[in-house]
Amino acid sequence: MTENFSYFLELESSFGAPNYNPLDVVLEKGEGVWVWDISGKKYLDCLASYSALNQGHCHPSLQETVQNQAKILTLTSRAFRNTKLPELYETLHRFSGKNMFLLMNSGAEAVETAIKVARRWGYRRKKIPENKAEIIVCRNNFHGRTTTVISFSSEESYRADFGPFTPGFKIIPFGDANALRESITNETAAFLVEPIQAEAGVYLPPPSYLHEVEKICREKQVLFIADEIQTGLGRTGEKFCFERYGVKPDLITVGKALSGGYYPISAVLGDRETLGLMEPGSHGSTFGGNPFGCAIAKQALDIILKEDLIRKSKELGEYAMSLFREIPSKHIKEVRGMGLLIGIELDIPAREVCLKLMEEGLLCKDTHENVIRFTPPLVITKEEIDFAVGVFRKVLG
Ligand SMILES: Cc1ncc(COP(=O)(O)O)c(C=O)c1O
Repeated sequence: MTENFSYFLELESSFGAPNYNPLDVVLEKGEGVWVWDISGKKYLDCLASYSALNQGHCHPSLQETVQNQAKILTLTSRAFRNTKLPELYETLHRFSGKNMFLLMNSGAEAVETAIKVARRWGYRRKKIPENKAEIIVCRNNFHGRTTTVISFSSEESYRADFGPFTPGFKIIPFGDANALRESITNETAAFLVEPIQAEAGVYLPPPSYLHEVEKICREKQVLFIADEIQTGLGRTGEKFCFERYGVKPDLITVGKALSGGYYPISAVLGDRETLGLMEPGSHGSTFGGNPFGCAIAKQALDIILKEDLIRKSKELGEYAMSLFREIPSKHIKEVRGMGLLIGIELDIPAREVCLKLMEEGLLCKDTHENVIRFTPPLVITKEEIDFAVGVFRKVLG
């Protein structure tokens, strides 16, 4: 096994661009909340691939969908129609209440698409002068890694030596509705926000924030865009996190768990007023809306509803947070979150703790030096949460 392990590590470090720093565990099998490394050691996955695996690893009914659809039809391009794309539209409509959808592949592409739609809406509906449309975003945001998206990141390591950047973005503090009100001009097309800043370290806004945001956007004729790529699809104890704050964004981006971990698929959810402004030729993607991805996404959404993962996420999230808060450790500064999107802030480097958790059978990921994210697949049971908290208690206690 040691030989095998160094073989994979060496191959990866000699050929792979070093843009990641993974924990040294080589996985080869996954089922539900569990994964196994090449020596057969079993771990509880407490990251769920940044919430892409809400339905758990290798979900049996998704496996069946993948196998069936792989035999029938996988790709048509949008040059021709297919049966699975309209079926997914209908499912997305029932799931979200929105009336128009645009399918892409990665999360960053969904965000790029939402930006294009917002700019177009700004020019055609709000009559913003040509090339002046501006989009307001929040400090410490994370919306992906493309050149335009990092143009409005406030994180230096995401941007260093990748300029020149795309203009047209203004950064304001997260959670500050007054800052939004003051920064809006006649040239503002949209406000793009994560309902909870997950990647930044699981930061929740003040309870009334999104309600004020919605009100300001309506008053000032600005589109309200919620990036639900990480917080959506059950993760925070509702279908979408914005529902927990009682608001209705104009555009929603989703990705990650829309694929149930099988195949990248993302979408912008909106209405005729916004997405209806995209005419043939304005946007596209060879794989966007392909029948293979659409069949998977439809099944992935069905699983979330059929298996009651939204209620589970809410109840088990509260249960897990209460247990984490009871851990008698001088190193835990704060436990915060919503549903099963939980951040545990430490006063010591989180990566060292993750390495110890790994030895004990938990796979966790540090974020921003001293926060550990606890975001397991939503199919986790109460007993598995007890096990995970027990390991944290042992390592941090
Ligand atoms: C809120 C949010 N938006 C966008 C993205 C980018 O998604 P992808 O990595 O699929 O491009 C992420 C990924 O972590 C995210 O958390």
